[in-house]
Amino acid sequence: MAEFIPVPAFDLVVFGATGDLALRKLFPALLHRFLDGQIPPQSRIIGVARSELDTGRFRQLVHESRGKFAPNACVDEAKCADFLNHVEYARVDASAPASEWRGLADTLNDGAGKARIFYLSTAPGLFVTIAQRLGEAGLATPTSRIVVEKPIGRDLASARAINDGIGAVFDEGRTFRIDHYLGKETVQNLLVLRFANMLVEPLWSRATIDHVQITVAEDLGVEGRADYYDKSGALRDMVQNHLLQLLCLVALEPPNSMDADAIRTEKLKVLSALRRIDAKDAAAKTVRGQYRAGLVGGQPARGYADEVGKATRTETFVAIKTEVDNWRWAGVPFYLRTGKRMGERRSEIVVQFKDTPVPIFGAGAAAPNRLVLRLQPDEGVRLWLNMKEPGPGGLRIKAAPLDLTFAEEFSVRYPDAYERLLMDVVRGNLSLFMRRDEVDAAWSWADALLAAWDAVGGDPQPYAAGSNGPTQSALLLDRDGRAWWDPE
Ligand code: BG6
Repeated sequence: MAEFIPVPAFDLVVFGATGDLALRKLFPALLHRFLDGQIPPQSRIIGVARSELDTGRFRQLVHESRGKFAPNACVDEAKCADFLNHVEYARVDASAPASEWRGLADTLNDGAGKARIFYLSTAPGLFVTIAQRLGEAGLATPTSRIVVEKPIGRDLASARAINDGIGAVFDEGRTFRIDHYLGKETVQNLLVLRFANMLVEPLWSRATIDHVQITVAEDLGVEGRADYYDKSGALRDMVQNHLLQLLCLVALEPPNSMDADAIRTEKLKVLSALRRIDAKDAAAKTVRGQYRAGLVGGQPARGYADEVGKATRTETFVAIKTEVDNWRWAGVPFYLRTGKRMGERRSEIVVQFKDTPVPIFGAGAAAPNRLVLRLQPDEGVRLWLNMKEPGPGGLRIKAAPLDLTFAEEFSVRYPDAYERLLMDVVRGNLSLFMRRDEVDAAWSWADALLAAWDAVGGDPQPYAAGSNGPTQSALLLDRDGRAWWDPE
């Protein structure tokens, strides 16, 4: 049984409560925390949306969505039903004047003294308006917090406007910018692996590491989000946030403590040292792709243009070679890759070590050591080492994984990233949330690449749905005498 740290009683207001993220992720995550006894009974979750619902009908909606998104959560039906007693609904039109927020204000005033959290699970276009209204309606008390989801803007300028607008009401210490990848178990484990094991740190540099690969492959297409996605593309949707955050955690210097600012300052240094890609390098260092029709998991899948209903240049795949220009990492390539409609859902970080200086067992007899951190599916860590194959008759070397797969080792249910992150918000722990200057630095790097692509022009390379992306992605590494680490 996993242990957990209790949190204080809270009122959590979820804006966009009838939306996909809230029903698919937030309410199931809260249900799990409730069932584990982590949520104190005085707590309330207040769903807010424009729909004409009342608390009874909203509870019904949450109950129904549980069947869809957390079908195995409830062993004890009575306890699950009790969860719904903590759920309420308030109808608010976010763009309406503050005077119309009275109902929500009355509800919240009943909960004075509790931690108060506003979770904006809405379109980013509403972030600033909602923050302003909360301020005008007197709801943004000095201890209340705001949580915002990505995308925070679509470039540096728009991100700044959003952060300024929110910052006028909530100071930085009360602003929680979610990147849900930071809530994933393996991602946190990366910090533990690096900084709780003396063995790892001396090996963690250009002296022993040949290169790093970060892959986030998805088998899904754009589903119901064509409108958003087509204006965004893979660089804005995945690289500017999730992949860069993973890169930061691989590359950061040991922070002085686990204090939120200690970690975030180290991440910022990595982002500042990340080499920008300009127009003259764009062709050699990046690949943009877009999926065509193909087979995913044996099932026919449509091409991107067909899914969004028009031909566009939006990239659904991107592969990038970049470097972190500091003493630890100079000369070590970081290869990043993400795409939709690939052959399988697989996210992992591969740290590949250098070859031994002299191949005394014969050239190519021993594979390079690799540390593979699997985020999903089958979360876990494997260290690939070379061992002698047992038996007489010659010395044969085989690479074998030292396996730290959590499910077998620790037999616990993997909590969803949102479970951890929501409880961190209640506790006021900002370690796993992005600071404003990190968001700025990540956008500044992404903006440079977007400008380079604009200058170069051209269409994304086609790839068949269900494949590993365009062939140019393999060539990106092949040119350096390397290859993506893809399971057979
Ligand atoms: C979101 C992106 O941030 O992350 C989606 O907007 C993507 O396009 C999703 O599908 C992937 O998250 P996960 O946790 O399923 O890997």
